[in-house]
Amino acid sequence: MSAMSSATRPRVFVSRRIPAEGLDRLTAATDADIWPEDLPPERSELLRRVEGIDGMLSLLTDRVDDELLDRAGPQLKVVANYAVGYDNIDVEACSRRGVAVGNTPGVLTETTADAAFALLMAAARRIPEGYDYVRQDRWKTWGPLLLLGPDVHHATLGIVGFGRIGREVAKRARGFDMTVLYHDVYPASPEEEARLGARRVEMDELLAASDFVTLHVNLTPETHHLMNTATFAKMKSSAVLINAARGPVIDPQALYDALKNGVIAAAGLDVTEPEPLPGNHPLLTLPNCLVVPHIASASYRTRGEMARIAAENVLAGVQRQPLPAFVNPEVFAARS
Ligand code: DGY
Repeated sequence: MSAMSSATRPRVFVSRRIPAEGLDRLTAATDADIWPEDLPPERSELLRRVEGIDGMLSLLTDRVDDELLDRAGPQLKVVANYAVGYDNIDVEACSRRGVAVGNTPGVLTETTADAAFALLMAAARRIPEGYDYVRQDRWKTWGPLLLLGPDVHHATLGIVGFGRIGREVAKRARGFDMTVLYHDVYPASPEEEARLGARRVEMDELLAASDFVTLHVNLTPETHHLMNTATFAKMKSSAVLINAARGPVIDPQALYDALKNGVIAAAGLDVTEPEPLPGNHPLLTLPNCLVVPHIASASYRTRGEMARIAAENVLAGVQRQPLPAFVNPEVFAARS
């Protein structure tokens, strides 16, 4: 984008420092107000900062709703989320005001699938417990019964949500000779199923048959607490549950009870409810619950690419151009 004179430079609020691949583009072409702290702005501060802006680069920790959009004002043209998920944004409220919404699809697919598989491996083979064991100086001999866990290879993997990330997880599972089942409201084509070696089943069958269940659904009213006391009861007691989607897809109290009472064997979570999970949360007292702080997309390359796309979304949006990654393209269609 050509440099604009400061008088015409659009005002943009960037709600956290993001990698240079995005930040440099924004500072070169806009009057960018970049929140400098590591923690997100308090809500009142966020509302203050968005007043009069033309565009916002938001994070999944920022709630973009009617209140925020009203405070921003009618000149707001674009909200570009630094994430592929956008459950923090009331898209309908944006569309009603003609505000374009962008996200960062594609660039984090494989990185997130890698991380889901890492969680699966680590939870199955009890890597965090082994790590603690050594660091606590409890390693005194080779133990025939020490930290046994299930095999990953040749096990059955159930993938809930067979979009981009779910399909990449299926590809990884093939390398481990796993049987891959999936459940999604939209079936993959027969060619895609054959390519990925995956078979679509109903949710109950997936839960009953899988040694590993991995969640890759968007958070919607339908998927909120999809995993709950009733669904855990349908799983194998030896099963391991992985969540690299959104925390509220799992009912945390039901998960605690299931892990504590041996209803399922273990969990590996990149995302939680609430998020962040406080250090004194009951789930963290369980040795069979592995939790990491929402880092599934956290590779250097991917976070740089996410920054680039989010910035390009902002720059297109403030010029009323179609966003490279558009969540609500109907906004543009309605204008043209
Ligand atoms: C996303 O993009 O939605 C992830 O949760 C963060 O990368």
